[in-house]
Amino acid sequence: MNNSLAGKVALVTGGSRGLGAAIAAALAQQGASVAITYVASAEKAAAVVAKLEKTGVSALAIRSDQGDPASAGRLIDQVVARFGRLDIVVNNAALAIQGKRIDDPEIDNAALDRQWQVNVLGVVATIRAAAPRLTEGGRIISVGSGLGSRVGFAGTTDYAAGKAAIVGYTKGAARDLGPRNITVNVVQPGVMATDMAAGSADKLPPSFMDTHAINRFATVEEVAAVITFLAGPDAGYITGSVVDVNGGFTA
Ligand SMILES: NC(=O)c1ccc[n+]([C@@H]2O[C@H](COP(=O)([O-])OP(=O)(O)OC[C@H]3O[C@@H](n4cnc5c(N)ncnc54)[C@H](OP(=O)(O)O)[C@@H]3O)[C@@H](O)[C@H]2O)c1
Repeated sequence: MNNSLAGKVALVTGGSRGLGAAIAAALAQQGASVAITYVASAEKAAAVVAKLEKTGVSALAIRSDQGDPASAGRLIDQVVARFGRLDIVVNNAALAIQGKRIDDPEIDNAALDRQWQVNVLGVVATIRAAAPRLTEGGRIISVGSGLGSRVGFAGTTDYAAGKAAIVGYTKGAARDLGPRNITVNVVQPGVMATDMAAGSADKLPPSFMDTHAINRFATVEEVAAVITFLAGPDAGYITGSVVDVNGGFTA
C-alpha cells in the first residue's frame, strides 16, 4: 500500500461491482477509508467491503438508490457520521439503457426517464449534498463516458446526452468550489468489460472498435488509476477538466 490518501475519506457510488469496485480498491490501496453504495447487489457490496478491510482501511457499504433524489442527503450524513469527514466523492453509479433509436415505437420511455434520474439528477443531488460537507482541498470526480463527447453509433441518445450534461455540471461546480480548493473533474472511459457492457456490447456495430486508436476495451484498473490520481495530492490544480481514458475514441 502507498499512503498518498492516508487519513482521507472517500465515497464511491456504485461500488459493488464493475468500475466502482475497482475505484474503491485503488483508493484503499492509497490508504483512504472508503464508503461504497449499491442498490441491488448487497452480497457483492459486502464482499467489496471485506476485501477493502483486508488492505487495512475502514470501509462501509450503504444501500442508497441514486434514482431517488432524497437519498443523497441521507447518504452523505451516513458517511460523515461513520468516518467524521468527507474528502473525495466519486460519482460512478449509472445505468445504460441503449439499443433503440429514438423513433423506435418500442422505445421504453419510462426506462429512459429512470436513466436520467440515476445518471444525471442523482449525480447532481449527490454533488449538492456533498459540496457543503467536503473538506478544504476536496475532490469530486464523476464518471462520464466517451459517448459524452462523441456518440459514434445510434441507439444511445439519452445515455450520451446525460453524460454530456455531467460535463457541464462539472465545469460549473469547479467554478463554484474553486475558492475552497475543491477540484471537480470528469473521467470519460471507453468500453470496459463490466456487467454494463455485457448488456450492450452485442448492440455495438462490429466495426466500432476500429474507430479507436488502440483497438481493445479499457480495463477497469486503467480507469481507476486515473481517478485515483485526480483524487490525490498531485492533482490539486486540475479542475473543470474532462479526462478521456478511451483508447483514442475521441482522437
Ligand atoms: N462499462 C462500460 O463500457 C462503460 C463505458 C463508459 C462509461 N461507463 C461508466 O462507468 C461507470 C461504471 O459502469 P460499470 O460498467 O462499472 O457499470 P455496472 O457494471 O453496471 O455497475 C454499476 C454499479 O452502479 C450501481 N448502481 C446502478 N444503479 C444504481 C442506483 N440507482 N443507485 C446506486 N447504485 C446504482 C450498481 O449497484 P448494484 O450492484 O447494486 O446494482 C453497480 O455497483 C458508469 O458511470 C458508466 O456509465 C461504463
